Amino acid sequence: MEIVIRPDYDGLSDTACSIVRAELARKPDLVLGLATGRTPLGLYERLRKSGDSFAKVRFFDLDEFYGLGPSHPDSFQHFLRTRFLDPVGAAPGNVRLLRGDVADLEAEARDYEEAIRGAGGIDLQILGIGRNGHIGFNEPGSSLGSRTRPKTLTPEVLAHYVRDIDPLSRMTSFALTMGVGTIMEARKLLMLACGPEKADIVRQFVEGPITAEVPASMLQLHRSAVVVLDEAAAAGLKRRDYYKWVFENKWRVGQK
Ligand code: F6R
Repeated sequence: MEIVIRPDYDGLSDTACSIVRAELARKPDLVLGLATGRTPLGLYERLRKSGDSFAKVRFFDLDEFYGLGPSHPDSFQHFLRTRFLDPVGAAPGNVRLLRGDVADLEAEARDYEEAIRGAGGIDLQILGIGRNGHIGFNEPGSSLGSRTRPKTLTPEVLAHYVRDIDPLSRMTSFALTMGVGTIMEARKLLMLACGPEKADIVRQFVEGPITAEVPASMLQLHRSAVVVLDEAAAAGLKRRDYYKWVFENKWRVGQK
């Protein structure tokens, strides 16, 4: 894992934007996996303003609440379409987001995995991390080899996302999520985390053991994972200074 520590959220978003744009320049028909949540908003804003063409990019996403259709204001699909996909002019035929309003979740999950395979796999997957170590909706205890499937959510996770909905209702207690195994098959992972409330879990997933109790710790086994943090989220890392030194000096490799 490469750990990049930026001074603040703006710096984090700038770095994340440079990474996505470099992948897009390399491959205009990039297969891009999107994340919802607060953390990537700065990245999406910068990509919207970049003027880059996303016309050929194929899009997937990480997860969706069960019961919420694409037009529901709390659905992840609505979030991604309004904040990112519509403004960058994503081609409708290139967008395959998970649907939470289907009758058969298992069939939707199978179809989704098939669609990812049909696109040749995900080139770059954007990720955030929950305070409990989840990636997508793979909560602690999730199989580290899991595939896209329905999952039961914790009340804490629901509270983080959904306003004013009964957390005990069936509609909001379940979700569909890409599995940890599915995420790990993406050719490159870009994990973003910011703020002091993420410092403890960042320390655990970057420098702790690989364990299903912290699903994000599985990133340690990925061949090409970049973790971009702000100072606050990096505050608990033992080797913080070393990561900074590596980032500032890696350009020297191969120089005389
Ligand atoms: C979003 C997702 C979640 C979030 C995580 C962090 O699609 O799958 O795993 O990335 O909960 O959320 P924020 O960025 O709001 O702290």
